[in-house]
Amino acid sequence: MEWVYIENISEYEGKEVEIKGWLYNKRSGGKLFFLLVRDGTGIIQAVVVKGEVDEKTFNLCEELTQESSLIVRGKINADRRAPGGFEIQVKEIELVHLAKDYPITPKPHGITFLLDLRHLWLRSRKQQAILRIRHEVIRALRDYYDERGFVLIDAPIFTPSACEGTTTLFETQYFGTSAYLTQSGQLYEEAGAMAFGKVYCFGPTFRAEKSKTRRHLTEFWMLEPEVAYYDLDDNMDLAEDCISYVVQRVLDRKKEELKIIERDTSKLEKVVKPFPKISYTEAVNILKKNGIEFEWGNDFGGKDETIISNQFEKPVFVHRFPAAIKAFYMKRDPLDEKLALGCDLLAPEGYGEIIGGGQREDSLEILEKRIKEHNLPREAFEWYFDLRKYGSVPHSGFGIGLERVVAWICGLSHLREAIPFPRTIYRLSP
Ligand code: 4AD
Ligand code: MG
Repeated sequence: MEWVYIENISEYEGKEVEIKGWLYNKRSGGKLFFLLVRDGTGIIQAVVVKGEVDEKTFNLCEELTQESSLIVRGKINADRRAPGGFEIQVKEIELVHLAKDYPITPKPHGITFLLDLRHLWLRSRKQQAILRIRHEVIRALRDYYDERGFVLIDAPIFTPSACEGTTTLFETQYFGTSAYLTQSGQLYEEAGAMAFGKVYCFGPTFRAEKSKTRRHLTEFWMLEPEVAYYDLDDNMDLAEDCISYVVQRVLDRKKEELKIIERDTSKLEKVVKPFPKISYTEAVNILKKNGIEFEWGNDFGGKDETIISNQFEKPVFVHRFPAAIKAFYMKRDPLDEKLALGCDLLAPEGYGEIIGGGQREDSLEILEKRIKEHNLPREAFEWYFDLRKYGSVPHSGFGIGLERVVAWICGLSHLREAIPFPRTIYRLSP
């Protein structure tokens, strides 16, 4: 008998097949058992009728517990009433392993309990839908850049210096000196852009975020494109084109998963370019109009971002921030030295910043000055200065926070469900 996956079951109507999986749930009704069997690719109802199976199989159904592993053999029938449209008429069941007291029962559980059991929670239908959407977001992002001639330049994870400020650095021992886990691959992508024109990296990044918020992880994944000869406007055009592409592709290819997590997709359908673009100063005015006391020069908090993004149906760019709250590498606005040519993209529905980036400082002299102002160790940046010594050009890039994008697309209230094994200030396990 052929071993088949549930995701392909429609090709096997009327045929006898074998499904290898686990028991998701069961119901019984006298001479009948309805087993919900999952195999990682889907769930199918297995119908066991007394008399149509041998006694051993029928008695086994009594015994079967949630998450016991089993091999089911039988005939595939189309049935409109069955979840998924097909069911398997069981001939025989082989027990592989009997699970005893699986802790995650169909009743509701608290979030801490579920996170402690993340290694098992991954088996649930909703978590699977979310992580399949995450996979599609990653594929869409990679395809987007690969199809447009960007070269993948992997950035290192051990780094000698800070990229995004020294307060969130994870320090580790490195053969007698200190190394830091990367906060961003950006500086290396700048080197890549000067070599290849347009590049990107995609990998885990680390920040010792002491704040306990639903938007922060200590380990998260970021995709960072960098393009030589791009200015701030080119950068925002690239970012909005990319995000529109990713959202529309998930809508197109992950309909079933979006249904399982009950996502209201009408809001995502509106995410097509162009996106609105407002300056930091305009954003501050929006806050004031909404009764928030906000002083020009401060950084936006989560609540501020929500109020700003709630004014729009699409993601909104905020650009030209006060230079004082931005990183050392940002180029200043030639029209106003107080401003940095940065751009953040805020997602709708209160999901906050999903992209941060901007145009980079390309003058050696100014960059040297900024490193000093930010009290960063000059030696660690000598190589970076080389990029401004040998054929410096205007260039721009940004970082897309993968879990923020997934949480938004899935409508999750917290980033912790957007990654297989979340790391936060209080969680290093499982
Ligand atoms: O805005 P950030 O800090 O920008 C950079 O790191 C730039 N060097 C990127 C670049 O220009 N190449 O981070 C980029 C994005 C944020 O917009 C957010 O989506 C995500 O990374 N992010 C986090 N996601 C989860 N947990 C955290 N603690 C995050 N910090 C940033
Ligand atoms: Mg940022």
